[in-house]
Amino acid sequence: MIQFLLNRELRTEHALDPNLTVLNYLRGPLGRPGTKEGCASGDCGACTVVVGEIEGERLRYRSLNACLTFVSALHGKQLISVEDLKHRGRLHSVQQAMVDCHGSQCGFCTPGFVMSLFALQKNSDGFDKAGSLEALAGNLCRCTGYRPILAAAEQACAAHDPDHFDAEQAETLARLKAIAPRSGGELGDGEKTCLLPLTVDELAELYLANPQARLLAGGTDLALEVTQFHRDLPAMIHLAHIPALKTVEKDADRLDIGAAAPLSDCYAALAAEYPDFGELLHRFASLQIRNQGTLGGNIGNASPIGDSPPLLIALGAHLVLRQGASTRRLPLEDYFLDYKVTARREGEFIERVLVPRRQPGRAFRAYKVSKRLDDDISAVCAGFNLALEGGVIREARVAYGGMAAIPKRARACEAALDGAPLDSRTLERACAALAEDFAPLSDFRASKEYRLLTAQNLLRKCFIELLTPDVETRVTSHA
Ligand SMILES: Cc1cc2nc3c(=O)[nH]c(=O)nc-3n(C[C@H](O)[C@H](O)[C@H](O)COP(=O)(O)OP(=O)(O)OC[C@H]3O[C@@H](n4cnc5c(N)ncnc54)[C@H](O)[C@@H]3O)c2cc1C
Ligand code: FES
Ligand code: FES
Repeated sequence: MIQFLLNRELRTEHALDPNLTVLNYLRGPLGRPGTKEGCASGDCGACTVVVGEIEGERLRYRSLNACLTFVSALHGKQLISVEDLKHRGRLHSVQQAMVDCHGSQCGFCTPGFVMSLFALQKNSDGFDKAGSLEALAGNLCRCTGYRPILAAAEQACAAHDPDHFDAEQAETLARLKAIAPRSGGELGDGEKTCLLPLTVDELAELYLANPQARLLAGGTDLALEVTQFHRDLPAMIHLAHIPALKTVEKDADRLDIGAAAPLSDCYAALAAEYPDFGELLHRFASLQIRNQGTLGGNIGNASPIGDSPPLLIALGAHLVLRQGASTRRLPLEDYFLDYKVTARREGEFIERVLVPRRQPGRAFRAYKVSKRLDDDISAVCAGFNLALEGGVIREARVAYGGMAAIPKRARACEAALDGAPLDSRTLERACAALAEDFAPLSDFRASKEYRLLTAQNLLRKCFIELLTPDVETRVTSHA
């Protein structure tokens, strides 16, 4: 059973197919066709909806891709779709701004843009161009062009008058508190099922008893199996309702990140410690995906082109893995064994990700190369973590994604760097060593030659930045 607010209406669903996406639920059983399907793969933003949830004593609104969100994610939340914005016959200010600024032509993308603008307006104090570009990077429009839409963002955010959602906020909060899940549950239709634990202990017990079940965190990878490959996921365990798996903590030595913390919640902690990590997270998918996708899911998916693993490996991150009542710690670099094969045992899951804090005398650089700047998967991604002392590299940790079947350390390159001066001769030796470390594949993202040359050039870029800190090289970090 799940309970949630469909804007103001309390909905209780006792039996639903847990493979049903919020998009199909809205357009089908709920009879709300305003939310559109463009791609069903998280790429176009036409399906953007906003979900409100309790954060302390306030409501937090996040934009999500309804096409990749299974209905179980709504449990205990408020779902707002484009139909909810107009109030007492008047367009919402974000809709009015789109009209005033001529932000729509054929209109197919418009509901998605409107919902992204709504979430942006709710989360901002005034107009900020960079924030607006970020909020809209996951929405594609094939006919209007983005300048009028950005003008609409400016109008909507600059004059942010209270709306009916603000007026109802206290009541909505109270209603969400009243329906907050108090014990673990299940959503199913008799054939397929999704278990909804609330604690890590409950999850550990359920997963040990049902190791064939698929773990569902944000679903931004997993849901593609349903929407793109038309497979059924008969048994899932949803991690998104376990508060203890969503915390992001910091002590003197490390960041301690719950596996189910959305990437947008990890951003501040990782960016404060490692600005390059923050820059990369800005370019990780879109805001809708980062609001939903998790660090644990990025690692759990074990893709050779996942963005966070090479960076985390370079930083020396560890995983806390849990199986039943026992936990173990594993260096992340030992987690990936072969293409999509990991060291995870039956019934074991990633509980936390431990990232060492920045240390004096160490330089960390990270780069992602993809065909588009925003919302695109890497061709090559690299993390460089160098301990420097008097112009000498005391220790190097170098890791790449997109260069092998798994995200991997470049051991020969590291050996060429360890103990060597930070200069051009060392650089060229280390670049040559990368050819020993990797024999990349060609695919539609990049040829093997391009990948190897790019990997070498990213190391060159790292050296240039460290040797000449005033040189601005960032602008070339996408192809
Ligand atoms: C449009 C689009 C753009 C994207 N762009 C990027 C990008 O730029 N960079 C990038 O790296 N990725 C990208 N992705 C992939 C995806 O968003 C990320 O991998 C994301 O971090 C997955 O997290 P999730 O919580 O949604 O995982 P889910 O889809 O819920 O799970 C992914 C896999 O991990 C497993 N899993 C989840 N949690 C755990 C756990 N705690 N323990 C063990 N296994 C677990 C699941 O069973 C599943 O097999 C993109 C995806 C889309 C659709
Ligand atoms: S339909 Fe394209 S992102 Fe959902
Ligand atoms: S108005 Fe036609 S796709 Fe945007």
